[in-house]
Amino acid sequence: MVTPNPVEFIVKAAQYTGCSHMATPFRRFLARQERGRAAAPRPAARRGLPPTAKTPLASRSDLRYHVRMAQIKSLFVTRLYRAALSELGPAIDTDELEASCFSIAEDDEAGQAWCEENGYPGYTSYASLTDLPWRFPVFADLKEALDLHVAAFAQDLEFDLGDGKLELEDLWINILPEGGTHSSHLHPHSVISGTTYVSMPDGASALKLEDPRSARMMAAPARRKDAREELQTFIYVKPQVGDVLLWESWLRHEVPMNMAEDERVSVSFNYKWV
Ligand SMILES: [Fe+2]
Repeated sequence: MVTPNPVEFIVKAAQYTGCSHMATPFRRFLARQERGRAAAPRPAARRGLPPTAKTPLASRSDLRYHVRMAQIKSLFVTRLYRAALSELGPAIDTDELEASCFSIAEDDEAGQAWCEENGYPGYTSYASLTDLPWRFPVFADLKEALDLHVAAFAQDLEFDLGDGKLELEDLWINILPEGGTHSSHLHPHSVISGTTYVSMPDGASALKLEDPRSARMMAAPARRKDAREELQTFIYVKPQVGDVLLWESWLRHEVPMNMAEDERVSVSFNYKWV
């Protein structure tokens, strides 16, 4: 059985019986309701709701309001650690570190040969020397400081290392001359990688980091130039001498062309889980 609408029922009953005095108050009531509906702003416009069947074109402010009210959160974040090397561990004299880098580069003939054969601009000890902390006290101090910075970053990343720990695997010098670049790469077989900056003359290149999901964005539009940093596809970080940057080793990065007349000097490293 269908329950009649009481207002309609009484109005119709009054019309049927010709009893106009019964229907009049309700007709006035209905008329007031109708006038009120016509005068009231449309709910979608008043409350700034997103497009509906009745309001197919939402304004920008409607959408901004909706974005503020909706539940949108970031997932699967990429962390980047930046600190002054001196904040943890023994004080490192960056002048001494720089002098040591150049001294090693001058003496390391095997490293020079490797750079020549592999078209590496400038010098790296990556392929030739594995014992810098043993050779030079300043590198031993550097390792001690880096161990602490990496431990702090591991804590931020909330790694469950079990009975293991993160241990220095490689530590190497990079001397990049004017015009030199280091193309996009990642550091396989490691957990945490990073660089500490020894000499950054004016015009020295920043570190360029790439969104690790780039390969999955085949049909996605580019981000707006003024998009939030966490949404940018590429991030440029310009560290200062004495800074240390850490990131997870799967994060693709590169050093764009060094535009400084003088060499850009840095020491990079990998930590593995043991
Ligand atoms: Fe690298």
